[in-house]
Amino acid sequence: MFKLGLIGCGNMGEAIISGLLKAKWSTPEEIIISTKTSARSDKIKHAYGVVVSTNAEVAQKAAIIILAVKPNMYREVIQEIVPFLDETKVLVSITPSFSLETLRHLSGGKAQVVRAMPNTPAKVGFGMTGVTFEKETSQDTRQEILTMFSCLGKVLEVPEDMMKVVGSLSGSAPAFIELFMKAMVDAGVSYGMSPEDAHLLVVQTVLGTAQLAASTQKPFASMIDDVCSKGGSTIRGISSLKENQFEEMIHRAVEKTTERFIEMNQESKVFSEK
Ligand SMILES: NC(=O)c1ccc[n+]([C@@H]2O[C@H](COP(=O)([O-])OP(=O)(O)OC[C@H]3O[C@@H](n4cnc5c(N)ncnc54)[C@H](OP(=O)(O)O)[C@@H]3O)[C@@H](O)[C@H]2O)c1
Repeated sequence: MFKLGLIGCGNMGEAIISGLLKAKWSTPEEIIISTKTSARSDKIKHAYGVVVSTNAEVAQKAAIIILAVKPNMYREVIQEIVPFLDETKVLVSITPSFSLETLRHLSGGKAQVVRAMPNTPAKVGFGMTGVTFEKETSQDTRQEILTMFSCLGKVLEVPEDMMKVVGSLSGSAPAFIELFMKAMVDAGVSYGMSPEDAHLLVVQTVLGTAQLAASTQKPFASMIDDVCSKGGSTIRGISSLKENQFEEMIHRAVEKTTERFIEMNQESKVFSEK
């Protein structure tokens, strides 16, 4: 029996494998994967030494099965593997689109189902994963899944109705932060700075600020005060952001993203009942 199986191994699948192997959660020989094209699975096998097979064999031979395909493939892939599932298997969805109820329905109630929401910084070991379990899930399974995702960074167990917020605040948020960083780099370049220099300044500053926030108990408002001095330059920039409703804009972006997570859950529910 393999410790882990991945059906699909693109961006997120590779980030998971890389993180788990780096953390020595398993050996490469304990991971089995399948992808749509052999070109992709051969590449992953070559890079990490994992075992490559078919979707059916992954489902048959792995104790934990992560569905790392795009949401539009979930239904088809689950249908394909249902015959190989049983109550000892843990089926992990990493897409925001399916509720535990829909996953249970699609898998015919044959496996334990778990929802997890990782993010792209998992690729470099600084991921944030939100996880939610069915209430029947055993303590051992919960621990095993939480330990597995903690190899990719940090992990937070939440009630299922908070998964949409996890989706916004950590799943989608790398793109929000990247947009902010792009705007900062563009602003630097508009003053004639080279893109490389502006990139270095912005990336290191975001990295450093995140480290600082992680190492202090101070609320963000107080951290902002630490950078601002009366009549200084930072306060002028902060005032401009506030006048332009920066915080409200972020709030609205989170609201829109969360709304979309709710819609996707509804759409997949209707679809799975057809
Ligand atoms: N990217 C993110 O930031 C992020 C964050 C959190 C969660 N997620 C979730 O992670 C999942 C995967 O996203 P991704 O960005 O990693 O997608 P991706 O890079 O497009 O990878 C999808 C993988 O699925 C494989 N695949 C497609 N059809 C298949 C089939 N019938 N059987 C087996 N494998 C199949 C593809 O194989 P080939 O390579 O051979 O085509 C590819 O390896 C999605 O459900 C997404 O919602 C993504």
